[in-house]
Amino acid sequence: MKLTVVGAGAVGASCAEYIAIKDFAAEVVILDIKEGFAEGKAMDLMQTASLNGFDTKIVGSTNDYSKTAGSEVAVITSGIPRKPGMTREELIGINAGIVKTVTENLVKHSPDVIIIVVSNPMDTMTYLAHKASGLPKNRIIGMGGALDSARFKYRIAEALDCPSSDVDGMVIGGHSDVGMVPLIDKAVRNSVAVSEFLSEDRMQQIVEDTKVGGATLTGLLGTSAWYAPGAAVSELVKAIGLDSKKMFPCSAMLDGEYGLNDICIGVPCILGANGIEKIVEIDLSDAEKAKMIESASGVSKTNGLLDV
Ligand code: 2OP
Repeated sequence: MKLTVVGAGAVGASCAEYIAIKDFAAEVVILDIKEGFAEGKAMDLMQTASLNGFDTKIVGSTNDYSKTAGSEVAVITSGIPRKPGMTREELIGINAGIVKTVTENLVKHSPDVIIIVVSNPMDTMTYLAHKASGLPKNRIIGMGGALDSARFKYRIAEALDCPSSDVDGMVIGGHSDVGMVPLIDKAVRNSVAVSEFLSEDRMQQIVEDTKVGGATLTGLLGTSAWYAPGAAVSELVKAIGLDSKKMFPCSAMLDGEYGLNDICIGVPCILGANGIEKIVEIDLSDAEKAKMIESASGVSKTNGLLDV
């Protein structure tokens, strides 16, 4: 598998590193506009190959998209990250132009590419990638829910004082501080509902902590997080590369699913060699449905700021 990661910043480089360590890709091209930056990151990562035991070839490119030709998957992390106190939505003015140009360049050299969008505001950037690429809707995936679900599981495991591996849970809806929908009533500890272990107040605290998981880290780090975002992307890429048919919450273009149309928002998706193999419509409670509708309203409002 040949993969391109656009943006050699912290998220892009972490994504490339995790993909290399998981050793399922033949080649990873890291591309950045900053002279020599992607080449440096690629060389540094390649010097870990004998230490981390991977055969994946990582190369860097300073804005030469011909190096990305023939990529099966391309991850867009380029754009500016948020600073403490900022919302993801405030990044649209700068990131929209970057994501549009990057998308067009990727498709020009890899017409059959599957694009995974990370740049924020992610749901709106995913929608933009659909419009800018003209690709079939199954080949544009927004990464947000996989990250938010990992944070959700972290918070549940923290509350239960148990390993995260003992917990399962999913976050759907918009990848935004107010629009996320952590499905707390569906979360389990080894098939047992977490409500068997936690009070209602504690479960709601987990929901709120999950929703601001990104903002919490931005406040601590002074910039957006990168380890968990990079790891989440690497899992989506692996599911595509191995045609694993794993299910992740991803931002997908909806045509009636969940009663929503012409919007990209986090819903359960089965990922495989074709990208989004299937959007899964799960039963939602009335409260969960209402939160999804409210979340979609927020995403649509941000979409309205686009010039598409
Ligand atoms: C986050 O939540 C960068 O949006 C990403 O950390």
